[in-house]
Amino acid sequence: MGKPICALITGASSGIGEAFARVMAAEGINLVLMARRADRLEALRRELEPAHRVKVAVVPCDIRTAESRAGAWEQAQKAATTSGLEIDCLINNAGLGESTWFVKQDWSRKAEMIDVNVSALTHFASLALPPMAAANRGWICNVSSTAGFMPGPKMAVYYATKAYVTSLSEALSYEVRHSGVKISALCPGPVKTEFAPAAKMDSSRLFQVIKPMTSEQVARIGYLAMLRGQPVVVDSWLLAGATFMNRFLPRAMILKTTAFLNGAGGRRK
Ligand SMILES: NC(=O)c1ccc[n+]([C@@H]2O[C@H](COP(=O)([O-])OP(=O)(O)OC[C@H]3O[C@@H](n4cnc5c(N)ncnc54)[C@H](OP(=O)(O)O)[C@@H]3O)[C@@H](O)[C@H]2O)c1
Repeated sequence: MGKPICALITGASSGIGEAFARVMAAEGINLVLMARRADRLEALRRELEPAHRVKVAVVPCDIRTAESRAGAWEQAQKAATTSGLEIDCLINNAGLGESTWFVKQDWSRKAEMIDVNVSALTHFASLALPPMAAANRGWICNVSSTAGFMPGPKMAVYYATKAYVTSLSEALSYEVRHSGVKISALCPGPVKTEFAPAAKMDSSRLFQVIKPMTSEQVARIGYLAMLRGQPVVVDSWLLAGATFMNRFLPRAMILKTTAFLNGAGGRRK
């Protein structure tokens, strides 16, 4: 099984993206790290470069607009070619959520989720895939969520963005099935990162009922599954079983259960 030479990781300043950077650097893979918090990316670069003798470049940017993404992609490619490398792997990980009722959620928060979770992920995949297809070699891991398997009252937009990510990834993985390019959707359940506090999910039943995994565990599972080209990856046996059962349960029952877990079971306050 081959492995990437140079990976671009979006959302590498914390959580799962940062953990992917650690896992892949330890495998000897060179990295280009992207996120808004430049200080965090720099600190990671200073730690990983000497520890694993890999090249690490940082591209600080906000990936909400198409213009900033095009500029960031150009910078990322330039950073790789300066070191004599080509980006042959994309970890499309940056993302955010928010737990609130749809009617109470500002449009700006909905737009931010769609811009980052959907538009940025699709844009980076469309920039990265053509050179990979031409070289008949490459890997893409789109970080989705088990939220993508069901509708999510009180996190409606977030769940819908992740349904899009899983659907897109499965379709693309089929399109490239006869080539040397592998595409995976990584669908974690709850993970202990900055995501839950930022999404106002700290008191969510979901994080109480299901023990959150560590970002290191999730990144390792995602990395190995991406190498194998597994189209959809659920990070625990329990959630893989639940996701499988989802196919046979009435949609109304799934909706009620998710609403309960998201604290949307009662009347809207
Ligand atoms: N934690 C969970 O329970 C869980 C479960 C399933 C799926 N996921 C998914 O896993 C992925 C990573 O989340 P995480 O849990 O690791 O959360 P996290 O610690 O909050 O990390 C999110 C990352 O996305 C980056 N990001 C957000 N908005 C950005 C923007 N506008 N421009 C550039 N970068 C941006 C953040 O960097 P900056 O703030 O520095 O820009 C940060 O590095 C997300 O796609 C999330 O939906 C998480």
